[in-house]
Amino acid sequence: MTDDACFLTFRANTFEPTLSVGCLRAAHAPYPRATLTLDSLPTEPWPCGAGGPDLNTSGTTKQRGVLSWMSWSAKDINTGSAHSARMYDYFLGGKDNYPPDQEAAEKVLAVLPHARTIARNNRYFMRRSARMLAQEAGIRQFLDIGTGIPTSPNLHEVIQEIAPEARIVYTDNDPIVLTHARALLTSAPQGMTAYAEADLREPRSILTAPELLETLDLTKPVALMMISILHFVPPEYDHYAVLGELVDALPSGSYLALTYGTSDFAPEEMKRAADVYAASRVPVRQRPKEEIEQFFQGLELVEPGLVPVHRWRPDDPALGKLSDADVSMFGGVARKP
Ligand SMILES: C[S@@+](CC[C@H](N)C(=O)[O-])C[C@H]1O[C@@H](n2cnc3c(N)ncnc32)[C@H](O)[C@@H]1O
Repeated sequence: MTDDACFLTFRANTFEPTLSVGCLRAAHAPYPRATLTLDSLPTEPWPCGAGGPDLNTSGTTKQRGVLSWMSWSAKDINTGSAHSARMYDYFLGGKDNYPPDQEAAEKVLAVLPHARTIARNNRYFMRRSARMLAQEAGIRQFLDIGTGIPTSPNLHEVIQEIAPEARIVYTDNDPIVLTHARALLTSAPQGMTAYAEADLREPRSILTAPELLETLDLTKPVALMMISILHFVPPEYDHYAVLGELVDALPSGSYLALTYGTSDFAPEEMKRAADVYAASRVPVRQRPKEEIEQFFQGLELVEPGLVPVHRWRPDDPALGKLSDADVSMFGGVARKP
């Protein structure tokens, strides 16, 4: 959270929902740092103006009676230019995208007609790997970085179907994801979900986010979900160092699930797609398999290793009909020894 950010944090459980609301900017002093019960929420508009929280959010959470954390900082949602979360939403057939996202996504589809197949299969990998981690590996804590606009089933829904007591922290740096975070806070009562607005370019901002520290016990194994996110970190950042800082913070027995785009199978189409992304000011970096393998250095890849995502423990015969070029994304899951 920056010094001049307005913020709202709420914490609700079946018995005692509370909400902290505050503003660190002097001009917005009417709501200093304070803890309120949901019943005593202010009724006037949030003083930070457009983009402020919908206070009904709290009511919804109260009705659901789940334990959740969410923080909010006042940032404008820039709908004037394309953004990776909303382009991805468009590829998945979602409705939470704007004309610049649609235009950029259509330009990508013109040069990479299987972009929708890539997005869908990336999502399927997320579900299969999450099920494996909850069911076979017995993981009960998940940290999902680069969550994206909620798309059913969301990660916590997949996991809590197996382990309702599981705790899931979602993070993304796009304010539009935050505005939809309500759909991510529908935890089973036995478990907990949280949303932290944080930036992967600063891994410490994720590891020290209060929502994370309130939700996960970092002395116990955590599954770090890096699903179609690292390739969006601008090339001037050291992707290995960024990921390494996160993995280093997790104890032995933790897991990394990662997908990353590759130009190994359809080099020309993928290059043209990367150029469209770059022209839309969404830099994306693709890598060959050898470089993606290095993300798992020091970790133990589980079967079947690092493979195109549709080949990772497929659960539907239709996946066998796809070519590697159709999917152009590697995925793997590995255990920290
Ligand atoms: C392609 S979407 C992936 C969504 C989800 N992980 C999935 O696979 O379905 C990439 C997401 O990463 C987020 N993102 C991009 N750069 C980020 C950064 N530096 N920090 C945090 N999130 C970021 C975007 O906002 C977007 O929601």
